[in-house]
Amino acid sequence: MARKKVALVGAGQIGGTMALVLAQKQLGDIVLVDVVEGVPQGKALDIMEGRLSLNSSAVLAGTNNYNDIAGSDVVIVTAGVPRKPGMTRDDLLDINYGIIEKVGTAIKNTAPNAFVIVVTNPLDAMVYAMQKVTGFATEKVVGMAGVLDSSRLACFVAMELGVAAEDVQAVVMGGHGPSMVSLYDFVSVGGIPLSQLMSKEKFDELSKRTAEAGTEIVNLLKTGSAFYSPGVSAVRMAEAYLLDKKSVLTCAVELKGQYGIKGLYCGVPVILGAGGVEKVIEVKMNDAEKAAFDKSVAEVKVNAEWVDKKVKG
Ligand code: APR
Repeated sequence: MARKKVALVGAGQIGGTMALVLAQKQLGDIVLVDVVEGVPQGKALDIMEGRLSLNSSAVLAGTNNYNDIAGSDVVIVTAGVPRKPGMTRDDLLDINYGIIEKVGTAIKNTAPNAFVIVVTNPLDAMVYAMQKVTGFATEKVVGMAGVLDSSRLACFVAMELGVAAEDVQAVVMGGHGPSMVSLYDFVSVGGIPLSQLMSKEKFDELSKRTAEAGTEIVNLLKTGSAFYSPGVSAVRMAEAYLLDKKSVLTCAVELKGQYGIKGLYCGVPVILGAGGVEKVIEVKMNDAEKAAFDKSVAEVKVNAEWVDKKVKG
């Protein structure tokens, strides 16, 4: 069986993290692409030299040429600029749109069969732009945000209860911004509903921290935004696709009438497998949650309309 190929466009903090984790998991060979000369080549070689200890036979290459992503099964895009303290994700809209336009055109021309995962912020707008620029089937263009936001909430719940993070399941929906929606009834701890272990008041505190979790990291790092947890989250999505796992993950996908929304990307639970987004799962929310979700979607819509104007020139 031929080896799978994963292209990482953007060899910065998240790109480098993903390269290491993908190599360790041996999901396929890896190409790192960046506009900065030497960085993708250096990171690829650095990881290649560590393969003995990683127990990995993955082959990595670094390049400044988009043509080298040809034949990729998966392309994960982090190309762009990250936040600095005081910036919102929306502050990145203009500059990162220009980058997504270039990268999307390259993917369309050189890797037309790829499953594309966008990580660049502001996420919901950038994945929407990627689909418009490539014209790929919407099942094959997804955004990474909900996996990370849900993982952050699960982490805070685990820390609060003093239990294993891997035993906590959580769902955070909507846009990848301060209005994201954490769902109390959807958290379980080793299969036990959270309502039996934690008050709604406590949960609301953790949900607030989750919505601000990216900013918390930006303020600590000062020079950029989170990269380890975004990196592993995007790899989880790539793995679901490459191994046809039928994983239930919250991803930014195009809604086609589900949740009463049409033609907009935002975070909802889906089944990810070899077909890409194989199914959007429509969950029942209570009135307050649905109102919060609709508010979050309204914010996503503003940026999508901005992208629409750009795409039409
Ligand atoms: N093509 C390829 N790579 C590019 C391009 C381009 N047109 N433009 C910029 N890059 C590269 C940069 O050179 C840099 O190496 O993208 C990389 C981004 O890496 P970092 O600056 O380290 O940012 P990172 O922390 O990895 O975050 C990337 O993901 O979570 C989002 O908000 C975050 O938008 C940001 C993105």
